[in-house]
Amino acid sequence: SQYSVVVPAAGIGKRMKTDCPKQYLHIAGKTIIEHTLTNLLEHSQVQRVILVLNPNDTLFAQLPIASHPRIEVVEGGQERCDSVLAGLNYLSDNEEWVLVHDAARPCFAATDLSTLLQLAEQGSIGGILATPVRDTMKRAFDVNVNRQNIVKHTESREHLWHALTPQFFKLAALKKALNTAAEQKINITDEASAIELLGEKVLLVEGSASNIKITQPEDLLLAEFYLTQNKL
Ligand code: C5P
Repeated sequence: SQYSVVVPAAGIGKRMKTDCPKQYLHIAGKTIIEHTLTNLLEHSQVQRVILVLNPNDTLFAQLPIASHPRIEVVEGGQERCDSVLAGLNYLSDNEEWVLVHDAARPCFAATDLSTLLQLAEQGSIGGILATPVRDTMKRAFDVNVNRQNIVKHTESREHLWHALTPQFFKLAALKKALNTAAEQKINITDEASAIELLGEKVLLVEGSASNIKITQPEDLLLAEFYLTQNKL
């Protein structure tokens, strides 16, 4: 089967320290968002992309990919979850499942996406790509209290995972979950957190660690390496 993908891209990327939002930075001759969209649309199980943009965005419309027949644009909101909800509300209720994928993750592997999509046949409500944590994890005290970052304790890294995207859930459940989180003003940073708040089971599907979220300047070179290597 084929699915719609909601791509939240309405953030301003303030951690990147550049004038333009991070998805419009160039890597290997194309903007990050073009890499992400092209890689999604090349997958045989992706029907269309619902791209959620900032209402003030003027850059996307200037890209050649803006006229792609399988990309539809909607306006985003204040927080990431508002933007995702705007994308979900655009879909028809006939769609049983939906994918959500960050614009800032151009390096996901098509095979990982295929593995995630198999969840639809397993009788679950959904799941996410994730990678096991490799480093030792420290919990720090609030820096405002000590004016230094000081370790409070070490978290066991056993059973600890990094949550990536794509994330794949039943549409009705995800809408309900995100609306509930929004009503309760709970700040969530991924779709799975909202599903968890409802007490539902989220499956972790181990994906490749090369699926980085471009966040800081040093991520650009690494992303370029992964993107050009995959094309060899
Ligand atoms: O800020 P962060 O890296 O977590 O953002 C993840 C994704 O969510 C980015 O692609 C960003 O553009 C998007 N986002 C959004 N609407 C917001 C905030 C973030 O679509 N209000």
